[in-house]
Amino acid sequence: MQEKNIPNVTLNDGILMPAIGLGTYQMRGGEGLNQIVAAIKDGYTAIDTATNYDNEGVVGRAIKRSGVNRADLFITSKLPGKYHRYDDATRAIQESIYRLGLDYLDLFLIHWPLPKRDHYVEAFQAMIDAQKRGLIRSIGVSNFEPEHLDRLIKETGVAPSVNQVEIHPYWNNQRIVEEDANRGVVTEAWSPLGRGSAALKEPVIKELADKYGKNVGQIILRWHEQRGIIPIPKSSSLEHQRLNLDTFDFSLTADEMDKINSLTKPNGRVDGQDPNEYEEFE
Ligand SMILES: NC(=O)c1ccc[n+]([C@@H]2O[C@H](COP(=O)([O-])OP(=O)(O)OC[C@H]3O[C@@H](n4cnc5c(N)ncnc54)[C@H](OP(=O)(O)O)[C@@H]3O)[C@@H](O)[C@H]2O)c1
Repeated sequence: MQEKNIPNVTLNDGILMPAIGLGTYQMRGGEGLNQIVAAIKDGYTAIDTATNYDNEGVVGRAIKRSGVNRADLFITSKLPGKYHRYDDATRAIQESIYRLGLDYLDLFLIHWPLPKRDHYVEAFQAMIDAQKRGLIRSIGVSNFEPEHLDRLIKETGVAPSVNQVEIHPYWNNQRIVEEDANRGVVTEAWSPLGRGSAALKEPVIKELADKYGKNVGQIILRWHEQRGIIPIPKSSSLEHQRLNLDTFDFSLTADEMDKINSLTKPNGRVDGQDPNEYEEFE
């Protein structure tokens, strides 16, 4: 494995999490396997999967095939909405670990809060108990609004370590970033490149790429990192995977950060998924 000196972020439970990871949505089968093995060999230590991506098996196989020590990797998976009940969540955590072929997960997240179903507190309780049994090192959430975080904290006495939410130049999500920080929760960005959207072609970003001799994706990833956010870009191209890891050797100015922040749009979400409404049951 290539040593890439990726900085760590310290979570509220003292666990160290790499400041960038590989997203794996839609990386499946033989092709996905080769892409994930290549990424790990190239220096990625953090890998983001989910039961709903139908690829925990391929991620597990890639980990084994890479030959990298398990202890040097940081593996995240996520609980599907249909398993929020305490007993279901307890079994789902074990099933994720079995599919990955691992003994433990570094981070486990509730994928979506599904507040209308209102079972996320018992899901989190199951995660707290699984953490006590050594099955998960750190427990977090995804797509949680501040009121959902507050309920977890009030009813379980435990604050999640991470909140993984949608963030990219068209949806800077500053409100959630601040609310997370107020509660000691680290924000992680999903679709950090806007899922390959037009944001990558924005003239402001292109100009910065030219100025720093970087690729447009690298400029956007640097913007996340300087906001204290952990991005998990997905790339099936070895070239992009390498570029995306190479983002820690330059800094954007405050003015340049503001310029990217000002690209945000009121309806900028890639798929219009509002965490208070969205239900990922199927
Ligand atoms: N918690 C949640 O609810 C949730 C929801 C969605 C996603 N996620 C996670 O977040 C991860 C990332 O999000 P995403 O997959 O939606 O999209 P993304 O990472 O924002 O964008 C991926 C796209 O960007 C392209 N790309 C990557 N690096 C690039 C570069 N340096 N320059 C130009 N283009 C580049 C990729 O193309 P190539 O493949 O050709 O490089 C691909 O088309 C997912 O894979 C998943 O792990 C979580």
